[in-house]
Amino acid sequence: MGKDRLFWSWDRQQQSEIPNREIRFETILDTLDAYLPKNFTALDLGSGPGALSFRILKRFPRARMIAVDFDPVLLKIGKDGLGTFGRRATFVDADLRANDWIQKLPIKKFDAAVSSTAIHWLDRKGLQNMYRNLAKVLRPQVIFLDADILPDGKGSRATEIAEKIRFSEIWYS
Ligand SMILES: C[S@@+](CC[C@H](N)C(=O)[O-])C[C@H]1O[C@@H](n2cnc3c(N)ncnc32)[C@H](O)[C@@H]1O
Repeated sequence: MGKDRLFWSWDRQQQSEIPNREIRFETILDTLDAYLPKNFTALDLGSGPGALSFRILKRFPRARMIAVDFDPVLLKIGKDGLGTFGRRATFVDADLRANDWIQKLPIKKFDAAVSSTAIHWLDRKGLQNMYRNLAKVLRPQVIFLDADILPDGKGSRATEIAEKIRFSEIWYS
């Protein structure tokens, strides 16, 4: 068995739980394709073993991914699974809720940030820390694409923002 066996096992397990996962990934890849130069550097937030990073690196041979997660097992599976991408794939062990998570990044400016089914794990304070720090390492005019299921309860912050966007003139113009 190859070193990437556990990487694909994770990928299959996630796929079985999230039936339209691949469509979400495709949408993220198409958006990156449409808006960024092909040699972009992007962050994968809560990357796990790097399923989304893998797809990005495969489609964009000049791109570089920095994958951030705090689970040592998933980080190890990712390093083994994405080893063939050499220095185009870097895994960083950091807690996105922490005040200083960006200090662990080997690069300080990014062209994009992506994430999939990870950010919903962060509580309000953790989410604030994550976004506050993220803003410091993203270049102006960057893209942030999150394929996640956010709480849809009435009165939740996510619902409030979604409703505003859905009914704003910007959305329809
Ligand atoms: C369902 S998995 C998704 C992994 C990957 N994005 C994917 O789509 O396969 C959620 C991931 O979020 C990570 N995660 C959750 N809270 C985190 C935190 N505070 N800091 C860093 N990673 C976190 C977990 O370790 C896990 O790898």
